[in-house]
Amino acid sequence: MNAMKNALLLLCFSLVLPFPLTTSVRLTLREGSSLSVDKPDDTLTSEDSAFAAGFYPVGENAYCFAIWFSKPSCSIPNCTVVWMANRDQPVNGRSSKLSLRKNGDLVLIDADRTVVWATSTGSSSGSSMKLLQLLDTGNLVLRDEQHVISWQSFDTPTNTLLPLQNLTRNTPLVSHRSKNNFSSGYYRLYFDNDNLLRLLFSGPKITSIYWPNPWLNSWDAGRTSWNDSRVAILDPYGNFTSSDDLKFLTSDYGAKVQRRLTVDYDGDVRVYSRSEGEEWSVSWQAKSDLCTIHGTCGPNSMCTYHPREGRSCICAPGYERENPSDWTQGCKPKFNSFCDSKVETEFVELPHADFYGYDKGVFFKMFTLEMCKKLCLDLCNCLGIQYKNWNCYPKLLLLNGQYSPGVEGGIHFRLPKSNLSSYKLPRIEYAALQCPANEVLLPRTYVKRQESSAIKILLIFVGAIAGTEAIVVLTVWCFLHGTSREKGRAHIDGYHAGPTGFRRFTYDELKKATRNFSEEIGKGSGGTVHKAVLSDSRVAAVKRLLEANQGENEFLAEVSTIGNLNHMNLIDMWGYCAEGKHRLLIYEFMEHGSLAENLSSPTELDWSKRFEIAVGSARGLAYLHEECLEWVLHCDVKPHNILLDSMYQPKVADFGLSKMLKREGLKDSGFSRIRGTRGYMAPEWIYNMPITSKVDVYSYGIVLLELVTGRSPTGGLANTEGGDENESKRLTSSVRERKRTGIPMETWIKEIVDPRLTGEYDTRMVGVLVAVALQCVEEDRDARPTMRQVVEMLLRCSDEDEDEMILA
Ligand SMILES: *[C@@H]1O[C@H](CO)[C@@H](O)[C@H](O)[C@H]1NC(C)=O
Ligand SMILES: *[C@@H]1O[C@H](CO)[C@@H](O)[C@H](O)[C@H]1NC(C)=O
Ligand SMILES: *[C@@H]1O[C@H](CO)[C@@H](O)[C@H](O)[C@H]1NC(C)=O
Ligand SMILES: *[C@@H]1O[C@H](CO)[C@@H](O)[C@H](O)[C@H]1NC(C)=O
Ligand SMILES: *[C@@H]1O[C@H](CO)[C@@H](O)[C@H](O)[C@H]1NC(C)=O
Ligand SMILES: *[C@@H]1O[C@H](CO)[C@@H](O)[C@H](O)[C@H]1NC(C)=O
Repeated sequence: MNAMKNALLLLCFSLVLPFPLTTSVRLTLREGSSLSVDKPDDTLTSEDSAFAAGFYPVGENAYCFAIWFSKPSCSIPNCTVVWMANRDQPVNGRSSKLSLRKNGDLVLIDADRTVVWATSTGSSSGSSMKLLQLLDTGNLVLRDEQHVISWQSFDTPTNTLLPLQNLTRNTPLVSHRSKNNFSSGYYRLYFDNDNLLRLLFSGPKITSIYWPNPWLNSWDAGRTSWNDSRVAILDPYGNFTSSDDLKFLTSDYGAKVQRRLTVDYDGDVRVYSRSEGEEWSVSWQAKSDLCTIHGTCGPNSMCTYHPREGRSCICAPGYERENPSDWTQGCKPKFNSFCDSKVETEFVELPHADFYGYDKGVFFKMFTLEMCKKLCLDLCNCLGIQYKNWNCYPKLLLLNGQYSPGVEGGIHFRLPKSNLSSYKLPRIEYAALQCPANEVLLPRTYVKRQESSAIKILLIFVGAIAGTEAIVVLTVWCFLHGTSREKGRAHIDGYHAGPTGFRRFTYDELKKATRNFSEEIGKGSGGTVHKAVLSDSRVAAVKRLLEANQGENEFLAEVSTIGNLNHMNLIDMWGYCAEGKHRLLIYEFMEHGSLAENLSSPTELDWSKRFEIAVGSARGLAYLHEECLEWVLHCDVKPHNILLDSMYQPKVADFGLSKMLKREGLKDSGFSRIRGTRGYMAPEWIYNMPITSKVDVYSYGIVLLELVTGRSPTGGLANTEGGDENESKRLTSSVRERKRTGIPMETWIKEIVDPRLTGEYDTRMVGVLVAVALQCVEEDRDARPTMRQVVEMLLRCSDEDEDEMILA
């Protein structure tokens, strides 16, 4: 019995023992031997057993030769793989093997004996013996006995960079295809031709760079393209340095833990760290906003945030999913191409949506929404437009879509008119806008003017304006076509060629020209104005912007647009200065100061001057509103901003400053800052209604009444400031009532007209002026005329007296 027991035991041992023996840790592979896929435990291990190399299952009966983290021990397939030899060509799960041939070539042989992968290190000369070894760094090396390395896995990375592994010009990292598919994916971390380390989406149909932000130049992205060594490395402590100056320390810098830098299949690059007994955690990542990674959602679909999934994709309105299991294929239209069939189309706006790139040519500057839509309709392959900050981007492809509350602007999708109602707009939830219709925030700034004790009230209305209307906007400029007008019209409208001398001034130059800003000639919204004599002896007015916290580029963009506005009734800008925190604007000097000053002085302005001023400033404003490709709203029309030259010709000043004056506490959008001056402000400001060019018309109407009556809407005579809304109401309603009473025009006009005119005026023309003014100050903005109509009405009236003025 016992003997039999012992014999059985022996038999058992002899059956069991060989396994531990054959699976004993293998540290090297010698020439002539191989690792077989048939023996799952047949692996190569690093000396510290942190890494293992062997066959790794990637699908059903499909294997790749791989390296993975093996400490703490993991069970396949739950290990963290850091490298693969043949990820795009897995081998059979039977009879495949990795062999180190006698000639020194390392080859991966599939079941059918084909060589799937090789290191091409074979030599016929049978030099020194080679062996394959997995180093503690995770580097699989083929070396000879003198430790000369002829091949290393570090030189052919897949999606992961390990500490001390060089990322070079020849070794991009390419993501996996998906969580469970280890094939080469679409995302690539590589050194571009300009020596910059970038992230690229390289899909089946399109490629685009998304990191660093493609619209940044290398300098702004904190990189340099001057170092062409193109090498980056992560040290074991979490210090990453790249030759393009990209440097970062991981959030757990210094700790002795396992690390890896991986281009994940979602397109982000992350550094993961893991200390003993823990899961991997992210200690650095390139993009925190996953929806800004390109290619995520495929064509015609938009990336959006999902509370659980992190992000998800939705089809654009009018489109449906191409492949229910693969978002990268995006969505397909539910309608036929507009090029194939002539269908009537319509635009549907989806706010907070954006599709990056793939516009028709470059974008079109200073377009109205209508012009932009027209542009799109004229192209049969145009799918919609993006309309942002008065720029028009017709979209021929809808790619890299994003849909999130943080996205500025929106997309106007072009869809067949017939089925319009059936195309649902997706919705996103976002916090209600800050300003309900009846709430008006009134941060007030009182600027005390020292010379006169009058208080200048500067009211800043803040209103977040939401909405789909082409609402508008404080400051939008247009580039001018002023010089290419027909002559006759040009004469009437007062166009003239722009100044040639627009230039940049240095701060020192201006300091000298203004004698250290000693002569202050005005103080207004946003800054003080000083008289200056330029080096070419021109007399100028230099405005120092006090609140301009704007970046230099942004400032220059604004300035150059203002500088491009040329009209004889708009103040000329000669130049600017942007140095450090200094922001100054240089204007032509206006001899007779502002209309406000003139109205407060006893004599100067006779009737004909007043009428000229009315017509001239209307022209200037009409030009801003309508002659440009888009509105430039002035938003602060008042006698202080109408300046008079030596001939008492009016020039509108201070337009277009709003955007340069970044008010504290207000985000930069430029759309939410509203300003104006009490007494001249249209009701829209107060009721937080959409702001259109009609706000300027209203203010202009008040100025007209002031010109006629000599009374300021801010109380009493012009220039005695400090009144309020009621005062301007009183002014308008008293004029309106007198006009209505049916008493003869001569009589009521006599009652309202400025006594300083001493009866010298043309009753009929005053009558027209008053009628126009009252129309301009209608509460209902739609009842107000446009500035162009105002100019016409005024000219028609003067017409009858001075025919040539129009015809010439
Ligand atoms: C991985 O994706 C590629 C490309 O789509 C495909 O050819 C391959 O079959 C996939 N592999 C697995 C294991 O699903
Ligand atoms: C791999 O991990 C998953 C999820 O954590 C688990 O359900 C599975 O059992 C693991 N497989 C092995 C072989 O350990
Ligand atoms: C990385 O590059 C440095 C400098 O070129 C070199 O000395 C080092 O051996 C490289 N490391 C590896 C693992 O190739
Ligand atoms: C990170 O590495 C770079 C290059 O090796 C080195 O100059 C720098 O001092 C390191 N930074 C830290 C915090 O160790
Ligand atoms: C270029 O980058 C490498 C690696 O970061 C660095 O060693 C080298 O000093 C740099 N060269 C110059 C000129 O800055
Ligand atoms: C409108 O929708 C219907 C049903 O969804 C579809 O059959 C028809 O082709 C669509 N028409 C156009 C112009 O897309």
